[in-house]
Amino acid sequence: MKNILAFGASSSINSINKKFANYSSKQIPNSRTNLLDLNDFEMPIFSIDKQKATGIPKAALDFKEHISKSDAIIISFAEHNGSYTSAFKNILDWVSRIERIVWCGKPMLLLSVSDGERGAKLVLDTAYNRIKRENSETLFKFSLKNFHSTFDLEKGILDAELNKIYKSVLMDFTKVI
Ligand SMILES: Cc1cc2nc3c(=O)[nH]c(=O)nc-3n(C[C@H](O)[C@H](O)[C@H](O)COP(=O)(O)O)c2cc1C
Repeated sequence: MKNILAFGASSSINSINKKFANYSSKQIPNSRTNLLDLNDFEMPIFSIDKQKATGIPKAALDFKEHISKSDAIIISFAEHNGSYTSAFKNILDWVSRIERIVWCGKPMLLLSVSDGERGAKLVLDTAYNRIKRENSETLFKFSLKNFHSTFDLEKGILDAELNKIYKSVLMDFTKVI
């Protein structure tokens, strides 16, 4: 059994990215999903001064432990103003103070979904290009636009061509876990 860490990089209670990350994790055979909610890792806004004064919050250490214990990671990114959500960026900044390589070189599937035409591709490419510097071998990405008309929780991705691409990315990711 492989342990897949999955989360939506969003703090929305009804996050479509959390749903898509969870759905995608469930597609990996012989695996169990550790689905995180970023609201459980709320911390003060990162500053180097706060770190010097009070150290790294326990929530950041806990988050890092989830990464360390996983066999692979699935993140689906929400895009806010063309970039990471504040919730994700704050966790990323704190966790990056524990160890430079945040994701421990684990195989990663980076996803993004939005209800608009662009599928949150900007933030997906930002994350992909950053993580690629540390992991070029086991890093994959896929973006889905118009989530509410292109995705169904039971049926998955409704467009056949898009679903073919998604399945192929999932298969490549599964092979390296
Ligand atoms: C402050 C804010 C900024 C946003 N900026 C973008 C954006 O730059 N690009 C985009 O595609 N959607 C943007 N959106 C819409 C979100 O992508 C949309 O709310 C989506 O549902 C977020 O995913 P989530 O449900 O997983 O949180 C923004 C929403 C908010 C609240």
